[in-house]
Amino acid sequence: MSVQKTLSLIKPDAVAKNVTGSINSRFEQAGLKIVAQKRLHLTRSQAENFYKVHSDKAFYESLCEFMSSGPIIAQVLSGEDAVAKNRTIMGATNPANADIGTIRRDFGESIEHNAVHGSDSVENAAIEIAFFFSGLEIVE
Ligand code: CMP
Repeated sequence: MSVQKTLSLIKPDAVAKNVTGSINSRFEQAGLKIVAQKRLHLTRSQAENFYKVHSDKAFYESLCEFMSSGPIIAQVLSGEDAVAKNRTIMGATNPANADIGTIRRDFGESIEHNAVHGSDSVENAAIEIAFFFSGLEIVE
């Protein structure tokens, strides 16, 4: 295990529900530190760029429409084993399959409106963090 950073997005559905503080509590209770955070409203083209790895998927258009439909919170989480730990806290992609007590189970509505995104590897975390934040904005 090592200290890692991972990108977290609180998606438009969870921001609209005004549960960003409750979600942040889950991270902090699990020992993850929020070392960068900002609220922004992605343009359609920014959402397409962020999710371009999914551009061949049937859900891509709808996902990009949703992710640019309202404000999100982008954040960098830091801590021991942060990538895997955040994925455990988030729960399965589809809230219907997510464990009880996970963010997606408690706040997600559907596989698309699933409250949060988290990087799936240390390598992708570095790419995704750089998409949203400059080094100056990340404060340990
Ligand atoms: P996220 O962690 O943001 O990564 C890609 C997103 O695509 C995922 O969460 C879901 O919101 C969405 N997604 C994945 N599979 C599907 C699907 N079958 N239908 C609709 N959206 C999906």
